[in-house]
Amino acid sequence: MKFFVDTADVQAIAELNDLGMVDGVTTNPSLILKSGRDIVEVTKEICDIVSGPVSAEVVATKAEDMIAEGRRLAEIAPNIAIKLPLTWDGLKACKVLTGEGRMVNVTLCFSANQALVAAKAGASFISPFIGRLDDINLDGMELIRDIRQIYDNYGFETEILAASIRTVNHAAQAALIGADVMTAPPEVIRKLASHPLTDAGLAQFLKDWEKTGQKIL
Ligand code: G3P
Repeated sequence: MKFFVDTADVQAIAELNDLGMVDGVTTNPSLILKSGRDIVEVTKEICDIVSGPVSAEVVATKAEDMIAEGRRLAEIAPNIAIKLPLTWDGLKACKVLTGEGRMVNVTLCFSANQALVAAKAGASFISPFIGRLDDINLDGMELIRDIRQIYDNYGFETEILAASIRTVNHAAQAALIGADVMTAPPEVIRKLASHPLTDAGLAQFLKDWEKTGQKIL
């Protein structure tokens, strides 16, 4: 499973990247706002750190304007994935931009049918939002399962990018289902390594070691 980091925080990206945890990055207008940075400047810095796909999102709503914005964003670096919303205009822009050989991440996907039309329009990535479905008492993970089955049924090559991952359980379940990629905030990725039994076991080992009076170095 590929790990994308869902942030525009350059320092957090660099730290996780040093650990080999970063196969790509996803950003969106809300994350750019949170960073307080200029979109072109911060995206360029991210692309200098990460060699995998870095999603940068358009804000136009008409296909021709989305295409123009997408081309502009793609000039930032060769590893930009243009992020387009899952609207009819977004699909039109997806078809044109992928036809030019550009990577496209179709975002704000909340149904299996939306994922199906995004694949038909040639999307490189589809981003179903798990957490936001859970927020309204639906089952985000069921959507990931459905999309996996549909894409496998017909051999679609669009990668399933499980997004809006808020918990470590989301991450494990998406991996079990076979999502190609997950994107999660840095704090969720860090939590993947933690377990209370690890902490308790380590504390006991250190206590016992102290009693031996030995040193390794
Ligand atoms: O990748 C999409 C993500 O940024 C949305 O996450 O937590 O705002 O629903 P969230």
